[in-house]
Amino acid sequence: MSTIPDLSDTPEDRKSPHVDIRWLKDIERVLITEQQLARRIGEMTQAIQKDFSGREMVVVSVLSGTVMFLADLIRRLNLPLRLDFIGVSSYGAGTESGELVFTKELRIDVKNRDVLLVDDILDTGKTMTRVLEKLKALRPRKIRTCVLLNKAARRVENVKADYVGFEIPDYFVVGYGLDFAERYRNLPFVGVLHEHVFKEVQKSPYRK
Ligand code: PRP
Repeated sequence: MSTIPDLSDTPEDRKSPHVDIRWLKDIERVLITEQQLARRIGEMTQAIQKDFSGREMVVVSVLSGTVMFLADLIRRLNLPLRLDFIGVSSYGAGTESGELVFTKELRIDVKNRDVLLVDDILDTGKTMTRVLEKLKALRPRKIRTCVLLNKAARRVENVKADYVGFEIPDYFVVGYGLDFAERYRNLPFVGVLHEHVFKEVQKSPYRK
């Protein structure tokens, strides 16, 4: 696989494409453009295809942030596959307890199967650690992990992904499936959320 693009916080990186007027109020800047996403996902697909060829794979996608990444990834995967979803959520929104609960269980039996676990972002690593524990207990033949974004600065669990789209700094990012209070998932790019947005929503009675 080619080197993982590292979107470090340099003045050069800040010369990002302008944010469309529709999003200007909420989005500080574009971190990853549609074109960069498409190119990188194409490269990731090649690597996955090489590693999984010869057997039918099971793609397990973590709800809900993977929606766009998953769709773009699997439509490019020229391999037989079955798709399933797993739901996991922090217990008590807004708490730092780190307690996770499963909100949707797998329907496909992954025993002796080759599994690709897909998530949009690897942040503290708590979600991936819990989901991997659960999957490993089901005795698949192999498991590989795939994330679009890796925010290594926030990691608290000792977990890494096998396929990573982009290394990103510790920004609050939204778009391309990633949300803030269930909003912004439909942005076609990954953008940095203006600080004022989450400060306002945290005070609002309508917060998630
Ligand atoms: C996000 C994201 C990952 C998880 C990563 O999910 O989709 O699953 O957090 O964070 P971690 O590495 O700190 O565990 P979230 O709970 O926000 O749900 P969503 O996908 O529905 O937005």
